[in-house]
Amino acid sequence: MLPSIDELNQHSINPLKSLDVWEDDVLERYPDPESIATDKSTEAYRNYDSPERDTVREFYKLNHTYQSYDFVMSKKANYLKFDKKEMPVWDAFQFLNQLVDDSDPDTDLDQFQHLLQTSEAIRRDGHPDWMVLTGLLHDMGKVLCLFGEAQWAVVGDTFPVGCAFSDKIVYPEYFKNSPDFDDERYNTKYGVYSPNCGLDNVQLSWGHDEYVYHMMKDYLPESGLYMLRYHSFYSQHKEHAYDHLMSGHDHEMFKWVNLFNPYDLYSKNPTPPNWSELKPYYEALVKKYLPANLKF
Ligand SMILES: [Fe+2]
Ligand SMILES: [Fe+2]
Repeated sequence: MLPSIDELNQHSINPLKSLDVWEDDVLERYPDPESIATDKSTEAYRNYDSPERDTVREFYKLNHTYQSYDFVMSKKANYLKFDKKEMPVWDAFQFLNQLVDDSDPDTDLDQFQHLLQTSEAIRRDGHPDWMVLTGLLHDMGKVLCLFGEAQWAVVGDTFPVGCAFSDKIVYPEYFKNSPDFDDERYNTKYGVYSPNCGLDNVQLSWGHDEYVYHMMKDYLPESGLYMLRYHSFYSQHKEHAYDHLMSGHDHEMFKWVNLFNPYDLYSKNPTPPNWSELKPYYEALVKKYLPANLKF
């Protein structure tokens, strides 16, 4: 018998040493094609065993076991009311940065540095300013951890619930633990959906992507919103496992998701950007698109 989510939360089961461990794992699965000379190829990933890999496996076991259709609906009902907190945008970045973990402080940059490196990489390549802002905001949803959500309900590859789980999702074997796995409403190819119904009608596993999408829904262009909402949906944007649920419009918009992904994955650099130089640009950018206060 599996422990209930409440029982789990009482023991605060967070297998990863930090959220970055998940991102490092994604990077090993999808290495930068431009620096593929390193030994972190996909093959190496599959054969690779390490204590860190064990924590990732444990993390996905929890994620796949508990991210059920009902779980997603209950988290949406709770968080999409945005009645938790309200604060100025720049305070929100500071709030996010309270998310410190026991990772090595010498090698891991804080959350804001990752956001800034992503947005700066986008800016360097001359993309439109709303995309730069999208880069700066894309992981803001990780504040869910500060509201007491476990790692497996905040990060991890996202995937549709309410229909059969694809074996293209990382560690598919753990879906056997999900209450939805044997539920006839949810375990067929289309489940509660219809062919090519469009992703807006599909429920994805709950986490920082869906949360930040709703947070920013009124402020960014649709292409930016796709980047926010689907940036961890690797089984689609890398593996194309859910074409049967995508509309023609989704396919068009996923060009933007694909454009965004390398900036998220491959912009990490041990040298932090020079914030005092960059500050005026970003203050103006935030002012241009966002309201004074953000709601959580
Ligand atoms: Fe993310
Ligand atoms: Fe990110």
